[in-house]
Amino acid sequence: MNPKMIDIHSHILPYTDDGAETWENSLTMIKNADAEGIRVIVATPHVLSEHHFKEEEEIIKKYLKLKKKVKKEGLKIEIVLACEIYAQPDTSLNHKIATLNSNGKYFLIEFPMNSIPKFAPEKLFDFAMDEKVPIVAHPERNAGFQTRPDFIYEYVQRGSLMQINQGSLLGRFGERAKTLAFKMIENNLAHFIASDGHKKDTRTVTLIECYHLITEKYGKHIAHRLFYENPLKAIQGEKIKTGEPLPIERELKKGFWDRVKGIRNRL
Ligand SMILES: [Fe+2]
Repeated sequence: MNPKMIDIHSHILPYTDDGAETWENSLTMIKNADAEGIRVIVATPHVLSEHHFKEEEEIIKKYLKLKKKVKKEGLKIEIVLACEIYAQPDTSLNHKIATLNSNGKYFLIEFPMNSIPKFAPEKLFDFAMDEKVPIVAHPERNAGFQTRPDFIYEYVQRGSLMQINQGSLLGRFGERAKTLAFKMIENNLAHFIASDGHKKDTRTVTLIECYHLITEKYGKHIAHRLFYENPLKAIQGEKIKTGEPLPIERELKKGFWDRVKGIRNRL
């Protein structure tokens, strides 16, 4: 039997962003996810600015249409709506699609890939003080966090949660992202693993391979928490209990094979 999994980060809504290109592609992604045991997918189209939220009624219409199509196919998988907010100084959550399942509590936020904006720490802390919980999308892929992984610990200490991409753990986004992603899990600094699936073939909505990897390495309990328990609570707007986060070094220690490569290179 397939394990229970919930994907809180995906780009399955067609004609909305750089994700699914057609209704057909979207349905293919959803069918594949359903077949491997994903119970719920949160559709999180990119929202790039406050102005962009003006399109939310259109996004909601597409979401309702997609739900109908999924039902018509006889699929049991559930589709929930939210978005992936591109952090801006004026980001507000006063929009229906801003939080997961409109629960007014958990929201998915991304930073530019090459840096952490200066306003981000205070902005996210302000949300946390207001009982809103930022879920930072794929920090392990961000060059700013890769250079200063200690910031991840600080963000978590100040109320943010962290979502890792399954592809990072499988090495699809390079060694640095992979090393940081595992370090985050080991230091209780990872709270969700999601697909960030964009297309029907490459980078699709899939979690199963990564689920097995995490189960093998850390056990069923950790996998269940990262792939199902925490995502479910985030959708339902319930409190997520986090393990005591451990500080992360300012410089990531090189892995064994990196050190071997380093020695070889010097020979
Ligand atoms: Fe995304």
